[in-house]
Amino acid sequence: MPRWLASSTLRTAKLTDGVIWVARPIREMSVSKPSVLVTRRMPSSVLSQLAETCEVDCHAETDALSHEALCQRLAGKHGLVCMFNDELDRTALVAAGAQLRVVATVAVGYDNIDVAAAAERGVVVTNTPDILTGATAELTWALILALTRRVGEGDRFVRAGRWEGWTFDSLLGTELRGKQLGIIGPGRIGRAVAAVAPAFGMRPVLSTRGHSLDPSTEIAGSEEEKWMPFDELLSTSAIVSVHVPLRESTRHLIGRRALIRMKRSAFLINTSRGGVVDDEALAWALDERLIAGAALDVFEHEPHVSPALIGRENVCLTPHLGSATRETRVAMAELAVRNVVEVLAGREAVTPVPLPARLLR
Ligand code: DGY
Repeated sequence: MPRWLASSTLRTAKLTDGVIWVARPIREMSVSKPSVLVTRRMPSSVLSQLAETCEVDCHAETDALSHEALCQRLAGKHGLVCMFNDELDRTALVAAGAQLRVVATVAVGYDNIDVAAAAERGVVVTNTPDILTGATAELTWALILALTRRVGEGDRFVRAGRWEGWTFDSLLGTELRGKQLGIIGPGRIGRAVAAVAPAFGMRPVLSTRGHSLDPSTEIAGSEEEKWMPFDELLSTSAIVSVHVPLRESTRHLIGRRALIRMKRSAFLINTSRGGVVDDEALAWALDERLIAGAALDVFEHEPHVSPALIGRENVCLTPHLGSATRETRVAMAELAVRNVVEVLAGREAVTPVPLPARLLR
């Protein structure tokens, strides 16, 4: 067992593949009902579930708390339900106090949370994997189709009153049939996107670059999936779609070096995290006509979007909508709340995030 566990408030942890963190049960603490901060407006049905066992303090707004306000409001809480754009760094975790037991993000990505600092302080971190896979894969396909068939451009053209009648050769797009779809990041979402490719007559290929999955274990039983080295995938795909988490190793994975390797006729799609694509390098590649276009749901400095991207007809932009369906968002909130309730009762979290490798040594 690593040294930090002995001094922390984590009760047990199974240091195997499926790492389990269990915080000290709340009944060991001298409070009747644990208090939980929820950082955003949520369906009342979800908040009622939480209120059955916890005192709920909900910032019932659509906008985020400032970092300072988050720290202040988190002080003294036992649990937190937060979003991907609430920054849970060491400062926030310290401000919360030693009684904090669980941070449950309503997202699959958890690059906003200092997981190592949380583990050191005995705080279990959970996310919401799986349930948003379908919604995010659907949005990815929506963007692929919108970009290659120029849906955004057509919509703007009609609304601007510029359409004067059908013509044989206006707004011609690019067909998908017979072409290669390159998936970078063969996790749940990447593979869900790949699974749809044959329906459009596309050949999916996958690269493990930037993803921790071991292809030799994942590949078993799926003959449809073809693996390809990163550079080869970039230079041979008609569509390159990115599905890796944001980590130091994936920051700017798609920068000048990668963009130079893509075909001039290729399109780039990013529904993973801003920061995986270097927005400035992308604008440069579009200027130089090194690629044909891009569709982006996520940006390096959200909600700021580089004017160099906004001004382009061959760029399709959406405001971080990957998991934005009613069904999925409710399911995500429910799972986050279940995680909080379980941990505060001293049970295993339903979907804990993996402990950082360095803490497992
Ligand atoms: C996620 O789940 O990580 C999304 O970016 C937010 O829904």
